[in-house]
Amino acid sequence: MSKNLIIVLLITIGFSYEVPNMFYTFQQQWPGSICLTKQCYKDNVGNYKGQSWAIHGLWPGATNDSGDCEELEACTNNKFKESNLSKTTMTNLDQAWVGFFNPSGSFRAHEWNKHGTCWDEKDDLVPQVPGMNVQEEYFQTTLQLWKSYNIYDILSAAGIKPDDNKLYDTDSILDAIENKIGSTAQLLCSKDSNNKLLLISVSFCVNEQYQPQRCPCDIYGGIPCGSRKNDKVRYPLFRL
Ligand SMILES: *[C@@H]1O[C@H](CO)[C@@H](O)[C@H](O)[C@H]1NC(C)=O
Ligand SMILES: *[C@@H]1O[C@H](CO)[C@@H](O)[C@H](O)[C@H]1NC(C)=O
Repeated sequence: MSKNLIIVLLITIGFSYEVPNMFYTFQQQWPGSICLTKQCYKDNVGNYKGQSWAIHGLWPGATNDSGDCEELEACTNNKFKESNLSKTTMTNLDQAWVGFFNPSGSFRAHEWNKHGTCWDEKDDLVPQVPGMNVQEEYFQTTLQLWKSYNIYDILSAAGIKPDDNKLYDTDSILDAIENKIGSTAQLLCSKDSNNKLLLISVSFCVNEQYQPQRCPCDIYGGIPCGSRKNDKVRYPLFRL
């Protein structure tokens, strides 16, 4: 349901407008696994160096009074415009938010058009600069979150590093992440050609002040792994 529809519904039933309990799902993905399951291309990798997880997206959602939740999607028609992004933001995105198997420009446009248009401008992690456009603020805010909670650094500090010959317990991965963020996280996997689980992404949710909070909804888009079942997963090196 779009934000506009929610507004209309709330006004219709006589409440003042407020999207109840907004939150954001922040998902990072591991390029070493992504590029084992899909063909990645040098042209799409930008300046990514293999020493960080990459941004998949920052996705607004909302819960209603029963705690049921929904992702907010495509809330406005304010389409992605690359020329609205500053040079600094472009440089940072070129390391952190690239397409790998897709051209980065179309990946970012997709993320903005589907999710970014529902982002709430007042929930901003970056210092306000007069006249800054909302798209620039959204990408800067997401980059800020990526810097604060990069999964690569969090796992590395717990001795969990990409390795082609090891299998890692998902419980130790979750412990490392959850201790750092002080909340719960969800892992998604995929299967490699030998039917082994490959760690693809880590998601956690934040509230409107960007404090990590339990995700009200399940995260889709892969095989849930490590929901405290102590799965063994691969966390392979990144290579093209
Ligand atoms: C919350 O959303 C669910 C699913 O859309 C709906 O069935 C339920 O009635 C809603 N509850 C409230 C209090 O709005
Ligand atoms: C791009 O910038 C223009 C001028 O500031 C603004 O009107 C437009 O909404 C911006 N587009 C996006 C997607 O933020």
